[in-house]
Amino acid sequence: MTGWEEVDEGWGRQAVRFATLSEPANCREYVALHHALELRAGDRLLDVACGAGLALELGALRGARPAGIDASRRLVAVARDRLPDADVRVGDMHALPWADADFDVVTSFRGIWGTTPDALAEVHRVLAPGGRIGLTVWGHIKASPGAWALAPFRLASTGSVAHQAAMVSLGRPGAGEELLTSHGFVDVRRVQVPCAWEFADPDAYALALASTGPAYEAIQVVGEEAFLAHARTIAEERVREGLPLRAEIDVVGYVARRPVERPADGSTSFLGPAPVTEAVEELYADDRDELGYVMNASRAWAHLPEVVDQLFGALGTAGTAARLTPRQRGILVAATAAARGDAYCALAWGGKLASAAGDEVAAAVLTGTDAGLSDVERALATWARQVVRDPNGTTATDVDRLRAAGYSDAEIVAITAFVGLRLAFSSINDALGLLPDQQLAADGPPAVVESVSFGRSPAPDRSGDA
Ligand SMILES: C[S@@+](CC[C@H](N)C(=O)[O-])C[C@H]1O[C@@H](n2cnc3c(N)ncnc32)[C@H](O)[C@@H]1O
Repeated sequence: MTGWEEVDEGWGRQAVRFATLSEPANCREYVALHHALELRAGDRLLDVACGAGLALELGALRGARPAGIDASRRLVAVARDRLPDADVRVGDMHALPWADADFDVVTSFRGIWGTTPDALAEVHRVLAPGGRIGLTVWGHIKASPGAWALAPFRLASTGSVAHQAAMVSLGRPGAGEELLTSHGFVDVRRVQVPCAWEFADPDAYALALASTGPAYEAIQVVGEEAFLAHARTIAEERVREGLPLRAEIDVVGYVARRPVERPADGSTSFLGPAPVTEAVEELYADDRDELGYVMNASRAWAHLPEVVDQLFGALGTAGTAARLTPRQRGILVAATAAARGDAYCALAWGGKLASAAGDEVAAAVLTGTDAGLSDVERALATWARQVVRDPNGTTATDVDRLRAAGYSDAEIVAITAFVGLRLAFSSINDALGLLPDQQLAADGPPAVVESVSFGRSPAPDRSGDA
């Protein structure tokens, strides 16, 4: 295969059969990767090499706003028919026709390969800072029980078969991790992605396989009839009475993130320095007395100290009204910050919670396992995460759980206000680009520091600064 414009010759020639006989067999893969990416309502989603668009249709069912690109105009025609309102384009994955930072999530299902690594630079560009990427690639095909289903592709020329082998190299242990990291992605993880193709009978299988791009490479060598006959013969041996033909093939999934943007070197937020008034001097002196250094949060809030004073005044009132102990405050703040993705408060309050409840409990709240918490504490942590992630998704039953944990309605309002006000503080800090204090990472309990794998990473060492 040479230029991307020729891709349609193979991938588009049987677009309708591909969309109806072949693509539906990949649905498990699409659902599993969307789940691993936590694809949610409102996410701007791009699927690279989107084929006939079934993955995009499933993404749209989760509420994502779909866009796609594929080199095959005839496959894109099917995708557009399925998703008339989506932005689906014919084009090359190496030159994505979208602006920088246009998407929250980019997927590619066996579309980006070892032979197309430069497409990752494009994906990085069009993802917003903090955005998620999810890829699937073939894994260990030879060791898969369903390896037979791909065998007819080997009827292609020796050169094409070698090219197909190079394409699947991304599934090898460490290969995808290395490639994604070298393109600037972080938090790279391998995830379980099932691939089980099912067909009604050998004929259906042969027609489905023949509709794909690699089949066309084989068909050019042996002709369509010979390809179909070979595929049917292989499948005849796998027919099972009363069950579909089923081919389970190893597929590897990767998820990763584009890192969030950092302030310019030497800055601890996107803001400039605040004028040092008497009130600001006092704020900094309080920090130095208490911590031995001036917090990056204080440097930012020095632009508007009266608002942060009122915010913390309200937090104090809510905390008292909810009868929160220091340990309960730690649980609520750590759960809120982690659910919001705020590294700064997660590190600061993870450390405080570790002092009150132990390192393991703090790490458990930050990672959401809640191991070591009492029933009441679990109810608090769960409520905090619900308030942060989906306040419209709460139910009367959720509020009843807090009542069952011993809280009155007034206390439930106070707890919710406490979480909401902490969420406001975290959101404001994150939006202004505040970096966690370097000391929090350097001196914090290792279990806490390791649990904070989200948000902006700590500021460089500025010891010696005013
Ligand atoms: C293995 S298929 C995957 C299709 C789809 N993601 C699916 O799950 O069925 C590979 C797809 O990559 C597309 N493709 C190949 N080269 C491309 C390129 N340079 N840019 C965009 N799409 C390309 C093909 O048209 C084909 O739809």
